[in-house]
Amino acid sequence: KLYNDNGDNFVVIAHRGASAYHPENTMSAFRAAVDMGAEMIELDVLLSKDGVPVVIHDETLERTTDGRGKVEDYNLRDLKKLDAGSWFSSGHKGEGIPTLEEVLNFAKGRIAVNIEIKTEAVTDSLNGGIEEKALKLVYKHKMQDYVLFSSFDYRAIAHLRELDVDISTALLYEKSQSEKREPKELVSDYKANAFNCSQRQFSKKWAEQLNEQGIPVFIYTVNKTQQMRKVIELGASGIFSDKPDVLKKLVDNLWK
Ligand code: G3P
Ligand code: MG
Repeated sequence: KLYNDNGDNFVVIAHRGASAYHPENTMSAFRAAVDMGAEMIELDVLLSKDGVPVVIHDETLERTTDGRGKVEDYNLRDLKKLDAGSWFSSGHKGEGIPTLEEVLNFAKGRIAVNIEIKTEAVTDSLNGGIEEKALKLVYKHKMQDYVLFSSFDYRAIAHLRELDVDISTALLYEKSQSEKREPKELVSDYKANAFNCSQRQFSKKWAEQLNEQGIPVFIYTVNKTQQMRKVIELGASGIFSDKPDVLKKLVDNLWK
Protein backbone atom coordinates (compact mmCIF):
# COMPACT_ATOMS: atom_id res chain seq x y z
CA LYS A 1 0.00 0.00 0.00
CA LEU A 2 2.92 2.27 0.62
CA TYR A 3 5.63 4.15 -1.00
CA ASN A 4 5.09 4.49 -4.72
CA ASP A 5 2.58 4.20 -7.46
CA ASN A 6 4.85 4.45 -10.46
CA GLY A 7 4.41 0.83 -11.44
CA ASP A 8 7.98 -0.35 -11.05
CA ASN A 9 7.27 -1.58 -7.53
CA PHE A 10 10.68 -0.39 -6.39
CA VAL A 11 11.31 2.22 -3.71
CA VAL A 12 14.01 4.88 -3.96
CA ILE A 13 14.81 5.77 -0.35
CA ALA A 14 16.91 8.79 0.58
CA HIS A 15 19.09 7.73 3.52
CA ARG A 16 19.00 10.49 6.16
CA GLY A 17 17.72 12.61 3.26
CA ALA A 18 19.96 13.28 0.27
CA SER A 19 22.82 13.07 2.74
CA ALA A 20 25.67 12.94 0.24
CA TYR A 21 24.86 16.51 -0.75
CA HIS A 22 23.38 18.08 2.39
CA PRO A 23 23.92 17.59 6.11
CA GLU A 24 22.17 14.34 7.11
CA ASN A 25 18.77 14.47 8.80
CA THR A 26 18.18 18.16 8.08
CA MET A 27 15.34 19.86 6.24
CA SER A 28 17.62 20.72 3.33
CA ALA A 29 18.55 17.04 2.94
CA PHE A 30 14.86 16.08 2.96
CA ARG A 31 13.88 18.84 0.54
CA ALA A 32 16.63 17.78 -1.86
CA ALA A 33 15.43 14.15 -1.67
CA VAL A 34 11.97 15.24 -2.83
CA ASP A 35 13.47 17.35 -5.61
CA MET A 36 15.57 14.39 -6.79
CA GLY A 37 12.49 12.20 -7.14
CA ALA A 38 13.02 9.92 -4.14
CA GLU A 39 9.90 8.09 -3.00
CA MET A 40 10.76 7.84 0.67
CA ILE A 41 13.01 9.60 3.14
CA GLU A 42 14.69 7.71 5.93
CA LEU A 43 15.35 9.51 9.21
CA ASP A 44 16.53 8.63 12.70
CA VAL A 45 14.59 9.61 15.80
CA LEU A 46 15.64 10.14 19.42
CA LEU A 47 13.90 11.89 22.30
CA SER A 48 14.96 15.21 23.78
CA LYS A 49 15.12 15.52 27.58
CA ASP A 50 11.60 16.91 27.58
CA GLY A 51 10.37 14.00 25.49
CA VAL A 52 10.09 15.47 22.01
CA PRO A 53 11.02 13.19 19.06
CA VAL A 54 13.95 14.86 17.27
CA VAL A 55 15.65 13.87 14.05
CA ILE A 56 19.30 12.99 14.60
CA HIS A 57 21.33 9.82 14.16
CA ASP A 58 23.84 9.69 17.00
CA GLU A 59 22.99 9.63 20.69
CA THR A 60 25.65 12.30 21.13
CA LEU A 61 25.78 15.73 19.53
CA GLU A 62 29.44 16.04 18.60
CA ARG A 63 29.59 14.55 15.10
CA THR A 64 26.74 16.46 13.45
CA THR A 65 26.25 19.58 15.57
CA ASP A 66 28.24 22.19 17.49
CA GLY A 67 26.83 20.83 20.76
CA ARG A 68 28.37 18.46 23.28
CA GLY A 69 27.04 15.50 25.19
CA LYS A 70 23.90 13.48 24.86
CA VAL A 71 20.75 14.44 22.99
CA GLU A 72 18.65 13.10 25.89
CA ASP A 73 20.26 15.60 28.28
CA TYR A 74 18.92 18.66 26.42
CA ASN A 75 15.44 20.13 26.19
CA LEU A 76 14.13 20.84 22.72
CA ARG A 77 14.59 24.56 23.14
CA ASP A 78 18.33 24.10 23.69
CA LEU A 79 18.71 21.52 20.92
CA LYS A 80 17.10 24.07 18.61
CA LYS A 81 19.95 26.53 19.27
CA LEU A 82 22.52 24.12 17.83
CA ASP A 83 24.03 24.30 14.36
CA ALA A 84 23.58 20.98 12.55
CA GLY A 85 24.87 22.22 9.20
CA SER A 86 28.34 23.75 9.62
CA TRP A 87 30.10 20.40 10.14
CA PHE A 88 29.05 19.54 6.59
CA SER A 89 29.76 22.82 4.82
CA SER A 90 29.85 26.54 5.55
CA GLY A 91 26.94 26.99 3.14
CA HIS A 92 24.75 25.01 5.53
CA LYS A 93 25.66 27.06 8.60
CA GLY A 94 22.71 27.57 10.92
CA GLU A 95 20.65 24.57 9.80
CA GLY A 96 18.96 23.15 12.85
CA ILE A 97 17.99 19.75 14.18
CA PRO A 98 14.43 19.17 12.95
CA THR A 99 11.69 17.71 15.10
CA LEU A 100 9.87 14.67 13.75
CA GLU A 101 6.76 16.82 13.61
CA GLU A 102 8.44 19.37 11.33
CA VAL A 103 9.53 16.65 8.93
CA LEU A 104 6.10 14.98 8.86
CA ASN A 105 4.55 18.35 8.21
CA PHE A 106 6.87 18.85 5.26
CA ALA A 107 6.54 15.27 3.95
CA LYS A 108 2.78 15.16 3.97
CA GLY A 109 1.52 15.00 0.38
CA ARG A 110 5.09 14.94 -0.91
CA ILE A 111 6.92 11.80 0.15
CA ALA A 112 6.72 8.69 2.36
CA VAL A 113 8.76 8.55 5.56
CA ASN A 114 10.76 5.74 7.14
CA ILE A 115 11.01 6.57 10.85
CA GLU A 116 13.91 4.67 12.37
CA ILE A 117 13.51 4.45 16.14
CA LYS A 118 16.94 4.73 17.74
CA THR A 119 16.63 3.17 21.15
CA GLU A 120 20.17 1.92 21.65
CA ALA A 121 20.88 4.97 23.73
CA VAL A 122 17.93 4.63 26.02
CA THR A 123 18.12 2.62 29.19
CA ASP A 124 14.62 2.55 30.62
CA SER A 125 12.44 -0.31 29.48
CA LEU A 126 9.78 1.86 27.87
CA ASN A 127 12.34 3.83 25.86
CA GLY A 128 10.82 6.99 27.27
CA GLY A 129 7.68 6.31 25.26
CA ILE A 130 9.34 7.12 21.95
CA GLU A 131 7.10 4.73 20.00
CA GLU A 132 3.88 6.24 21.40
CA LYS A 133 5.12 9.75 20.85
CA ALA A 134 6.18 9.17 17.27
CA LEU A 135 2.97 7.31 16.47
CA LYS A 136 0.87 10.12 17.92
CA LEU A 137 2.53 12.59 15.57
CA VAL A 138 1.89 10.27 12.63
CA TYR A 139 -1.81 10.16 13.54
CA LYS A 140 -1.93 13.91 14.03
CA HIS A 141 -0.65 14.45 10.51
CA LYS A 142 -2.73 11.57 9.09
CA MET A 143 0.42 9.98 7.69
CA GLN A 144 -0.37 6.36 8.68
CA ASP A 145 -0.44 5.17 5.07
CA TYR A 146 2.82 6.92 4.22
CA VAL A 147 4.99 5.89 7.15
CA LEU A 148 7.19 2.87 7.73
CA PHE A 149 8.60 2.44 11.24
CA SER A 150 11.84 0.51 11.66
CA SER A 151 14.36 -0.34 14.36
CA PHE A 152 17.34 -2.52 15.16
CA ASP A 153 15.65 -2.92 18.54
CA TYR A 154 12.88 -5.43 17.94
CA ARG A 155 11.22 -4.54 21.24
CA ALA A 156 10.30 -1.25 19.61
CA ILE A 157 8.78 -3.11 16.64
CA ALA A 158 6.79 -5.42 18.94
CA HIS A 159 5.60 -2.41 20.93
CA LEU A 160 4.46 -0.57 17.81
CA ARG A 161 2.46 -3.61 16.74
CA GLU A 162 0.80 -3.68 20.18
CA LEU A 163 -0.07 -0.03 19.81
CA ASP A 164 -1.42 -0.30 16.26
CA VAL A 165 -2.27 -3.47 14.36
CA ASP A 166 -2.12 -1.71 11.01
CA ILE A 167 0.92 0.54 11.13
CA SER A 168 3.73 -0.59 8.79
CA THR A 169 6.88 -1.81 10.47
CA ALA A 170 10.24 -3.14 9.29
CA LEU A 171 12.91 -5.12 11.10
CA LEU A 172 16.36 -3.65 10.65
CA TYR A 173 19.03 -6.27 10.24
CA GLU A 174 22.81 -6.12 10.32
CA LYS A 175 25.70 -8.46 10.83
CA SER A 176 26.03 -7.84 14.54
CA GLN A 177 22.40 -8.84 15.17
CA SER A 178 22.52 -11.63 17.76
CA GLU A 179 19.46 -13.19 16.16
CA LYS A 180 19.54 -16.83 15.16
CA ARG A 181 16.11 -16.99 13.54
CA GLU A 182 15.78 -16.80 9.77
CA PRO A 183 14.46 -13.50 8.39
CA LYS A 184 11.17 -15.05 7.31
CA GLU A 185 10.56 -16.35 10.86
CA LEU A 186 11.52 -13.02 12.38
CA VAL A 187 9.17 -11.12 10.13
CA SER A 188 6.28 -13.36 10.98
CA ASP A 189 7.08 -13.45 14.73
CA TYR A 190 7.10 -9.64 14.87
CA LYS A 191 4.25 -9.21 12.39
CA ALA A 192 6.49 -6.88 10.42
CA ASN A 193 5.74 -5.63 6.92
CA ALA A 194 9.25 -5.26 5.54
CA PHE A 195 12.82 -6.40 6.12
CA ASN A 196 15.50 -3.71 6.05
CA CYS A 197 18.78 -5.48 5.57
CA SER A 198 22.39 -4.36 5.37
CA GLN A 199 23.99 -4.83 1.98
CA ARG A 200 26.66 -7.10 3.47
CA GLN A 201 24.14 -9.59 4.81
CA PHE A 202 21.73 -9.67 1.91
CA SER A 203 21.38 -12.83 -0.17
CA LYS A 204 19.25 -14.05 -3.03
CA LYS A 205 17.89 -16.81 -0.82
CA TRP A 206 16.59 -14.37 1.74
CA ALA A 207 15.04 -12.19 -0.93
CA GLU A 208 13.23 -15.16 -2.43
CA GLN A 209 11.96 -16.41 0.92
CA LEU A 210 10.69 -13.00 1.93
CA ASN A 211 9.26 -12.06 -1.44
CA GLU A 212 7.32 -15.33 -1.40
CA GLN A 213 5.65 -14.12 1.78
CA GLY A 214 4.93 -10.77 0.15
CA ILE A 215 7.55 -9.04 2.30
CA PRO A 216 9.67 -6.42 0.55
CA VAL A 217 13.40 -6.27 1.30
CA PHE A 218 14.97 -2.83 1.48
CA ILE A 219 18.77 -2.65 1.44
CA TYR A 220 21.04 -0.07 3.12
CA THR A 221 23.24 1.82 2.36
CA VAL A 222 24.19 1.71 -1.30
CA ASN A 223 25.81 4.64 -3.09
CA LYS A 224 27.50 3.14 -6.16
CA THR A 225 25.57 2.36 -9.34
CA GLN A 226 27.22 -1.00 -9.84
CA GLN A 227 26.30 -2.15 -6.35
CA MET A 228 22.77 -0.81 -6.73
CA ARG A 229 22.41 -2.87 -9.88
CA LYS A 230 23.64 -6.00 -8.13
CA VAL A 231 21.32 -5.56 -5.15
CA ILE A 232 18.36 -5.09 -7.49
CA GLU A 233 19.31 -8.25 -9.39
CA LEU A 234 19.34 -10.18 -6.11
CA GLY A 235 15.74 -9.19 -5.50
CA ALA A 236 15.67 -5.99 -3.41
CA SER A 237 12.42 -4.04 -3.49
CA GLY A 238 14.07 -0.81 -2.44
CA ILE A 239 17.42 0.74 -1.62
CA PHE A 240 18.52 3.32 0.94
CA SER A 241 21.03 5.66 -0.65
CA ASP A 242 22.78 8.87 0.31
CA LYS A 243 22.56 9.64 -3.43
CA PRO A 244 18.90 9.18 -4.33
CA ASP A 245 19.50 10.98 -7.63
CA VAL A 246 21.95 8.29 -8.75
CA LEU A 247 19.55 5.52 -7.70
CA LYS A 248 16.57 7.20 -9.32
CA LYS A 249 18.42 7.50 -12.62
CA LEU A 250 19.35 3.82 -12.60
CA VAL A 251 15.84 2.70 -11.66
CA ASP A 252 14.25 4.87 -14.34
CA ASN A 253 16.57 3.33 -16.92
CA LEU A 254 15.97 -0.24 -15.76
CA TRP A 255 12.17 0.00 -15.86
CA LYS A 256 11.73 2.33 -18.80
O1 G3P B 1 17.54 2.36 8.15
C1 G3P B 1 18.66 2.06 7.41
C2 G3P B 1 19.90 2.63 8.05
O2 G3P B 1 19.66 3.97 8.32
C3 G3P B 1 20.30 1.90 9.29
O3 G3P B 1 21.55 2.30 9.79
O4 G3P B 1 23.07 3.62 11.19
O5 G3P B 1 22.28 4.55 9.03
O6 G3P B 1 20.73 4.37 10.96
P1 G3P B 1 21.92 3.77 10.27
MG1 MG C 1 18.99 5.15 10.02
